[in-house]
Amino acid sequence: MAERSDVLVVAGTGETQDVILSAVAAQELGVTVVTDLDALAVPWRDAGVVLVADDQAERLAARALPHRDGVYLIGSDSRRLATWSTPLSAQVIGLPEGSAWLGAVLADGSARARAPVVAVLGGSGGVGASTLAAALAQLGAERPDGAALVDVDPAGGGIDLLLGAEQVQGWRWPGLRAAEGQLGDLRPQLPVVDGVSVVSMARGAALDLAREPIAAVIGGLRSWHSVVVVDPGRSLAPAAREAVRLAGRHLLVVAGGIRGVAAARQTVAALGLEHPEVVLRRWPGGLPADLVAEAVGHPVVAVLPEERALRAAAERGEPPARGGRRGYRKVVAKLLAEVAGGGDG
Ligand SMILES: Nc1ncnc2c1ncn2[C@@H]1O[C@H](COP(=O)(O)OP(=O)(O)OP(=O)(O)O)[C@@H](O)[C@H]1O
Ligand SMILES: [Mg+2]
Repeated sequence: MAERSDVLVVAGTGETQDVILSAVAAQELGVTVVTDLDALAVPWRDAGVVLVADDQAERLAARALPHRDGVYLIGSDSRRLATWSTPLSAQVIGLPEGSAWLGAVLADGSARARAPVVAVLGGSGGVGASTLAAALAQLGAERPDGAALVDVDPAGGGIDLLLGAEQVQGWRWPGLRAAEGQLGDLRPQLPVVDGVSVVSMARGAALDLAREPIAAVIGGLRSWHSVVVVDPGRSLAPAAREAVRLAGRHLLVVAGGIRGVAAARQTVAALGLEHPEVVLRRWPGGLPADLVAEAVGHPVVAVLPEERALRAAAERGEPPARGGRRGYRKVVAKLLAEVAGGGDG
């Protein structure tokens, strides 16, 4: 596997670059310095932290790169810092006063890997999206830092039910709704089942979640788990959209009939999904994978077998990838390796 840099620095030669590079050197971190923005796509995605000098901000913003966490805009030109922090989704470190904070950011954020975030969406209602999200998290929990499962569906009844975690003590969204900024390790506060840290909706009145706590909680979970799986539900509420935006991969579970495909196309359009990967829920007599891929306009990456026992398991609160459901489990394991890497780190 290619060496991945801890820190990506986007800065022309000059004083700001000097300050950044000496701070990086002090932490003994691996660094990639980029001035040719055409060479940016891979390090932008893979680096633990991105440090952008204010003189590069305008050029960089014009690139409209995908959103990512851990971007810092650094320099002494306060007007530039104020103008470009929002377009780059960057936090601002003003120099010279912020140099101590720069050191703290590098010490804290870059050393920890940033886990992939996978969103599981239903192309239509009741197609098995939440079940798949829970199963992916369950198998992801076998990785060194475990997995987190984040439920953002206000109408889903609480994903903790699917894992039999409704009695497990710990915070749910009502306890996290004021979260913002950089969070520490949430694991001691959350219900954990089968190695999965669960952030679930509470039962009772539907909670109107804002976007900020979603970003803070998902950002925090990424630092302390090997994979984060998100269930945004089908509400299209701002919180769900934010969760979709934060995910690097989007699995779209599609019912393999004419209506399922039509609904999936609408879901793709409504959410503005650019690269959804279709997981086909095959019905007896349903459409074959190549036709579904063509009709939805996106590749089919897995076919979920019909597993009757899943419904009863869900009613009992037995996690979907436990027990004898080998066919389903095998497909989910392969899918996990595909969307979240091989599980070696
Ligand atoms: N592969 C499968 N085979 C058979 N039944 C399944 C399968 N996957 C899920 N189910 C069952 O289908 C029902 C709906 O599943 P689930 O709640 O995961 O769907 P969803 O897409 O999240 O629905 P919603 O639109 O309500 O969020 C549940 O009873 C579940 O156990
Ligand atoms: Mg659901």
